[in-house]
Amino acid sequence: MAIDPLMPVYPRCAVRPVKGEHCHLIGEDGRRFLDFAAGIAVNILGHSHPGLIGAIREQAATLMHVSNLYGSPQGERLAQRLVDLTFADTVFFTNSGAEAVEAAIKTARAYHQHGGNSDRHELITFNNAFHGRTMATISASDQEKMHKGFLPLLPGFRYSAFDDLAAAEALIGPKTPRSARPPQARWPAFSRCRMNRWFRATTTAIGCRRPSTLRSPLRSATRSR
Ligand SMILES: Cc1ncc(COP(=O)(O)O)c(C=O)c1O
Repeated sequence: MAIDPLMPVYPRCAVRPVKGEHCHLIGEDGRRFLDFAAGIAVNILGHSHPGLIGAIREQAATLMHVSNLYGSPQGERLAQRLVDLTFADTVFFTNSGAEAVEAAIKTARAYHQHGGNSDRHELITFNNAFHGRTMATISASDQEKMHKGFLPLLPGFRYSAFDDLAAAEALIGPKTPRSARPPQARWPAFSRCRMNRWFRATTTAIGCRRPSTLRSPLRSATRSR
C-alpha cells in the first residue's frame, strides 16, 4: 500500500507556510497570512525576530544536541530562571504538549505510589477535551474518534461534563489523587475563572507539593524567593 513519505496522521489545512516574517506567514504560493494561530499557545515567539535568531545562531555554533546522560549547566540556569519568575518549584523540559501531559499524569501517580497510596491513580478530565496523541493522552480524552484503531486504552481516567463543578465533584473519590483536589471548604465558591486557575496550577504542580501548599499562579507569582 502506498503511503505519503510524511506520515498522514491527521488532516492538515491548505495553508502551507514556507517562510515567517514577524507576525506574518508566507505560503508556498506567495500568499501572506496574519499568523493568529502561531503554535496554538506554544512558542508564540513570532517569526524572524533578530534577538531570537541571534540566540539560536549562538547556541547552534556553541553546542548542539547532547544526550541526557550529561549534566546541563544551561538547562539548570533556564530552570532556575523559570522557578524564580513563576509559581513553579521545578521545571521539566519536554518536546511536546502530549509529553507534558504524560509527565503530569506520571507525577500525580508517582506522588501517591511513593507515598504508599497506589490506589489513588484515577484522574478526572473533561468531555471533548484534547490532551495529545500518545496512548496516555488519547486515553485521557473521551473522544471516540481519537480512540478508534488504538484500543485498548490506558485505564484510570474518568470523564466529567465541562464547566459543571457538581459533575466533576461527583467523580472525586478514594482513587482520585489528593493533590488534584481543591480544598473542600473552598470548592463551592470556585468560580469558573478560579477553577481554570486552579487547574492550571495543579496540572503544572501536580504531585510536587502537599495540597495545603498548592497556590494559585497569580498569588504565587507575587511571592518573593
Ligand atoms: C490543550 C492541548 N493539550 C495537549 C496538546 C498536545 O500537544 P502536542 O501536539 O505538542 O503533543 C495540544 C496540542 O494542540 C493541546 O492543544
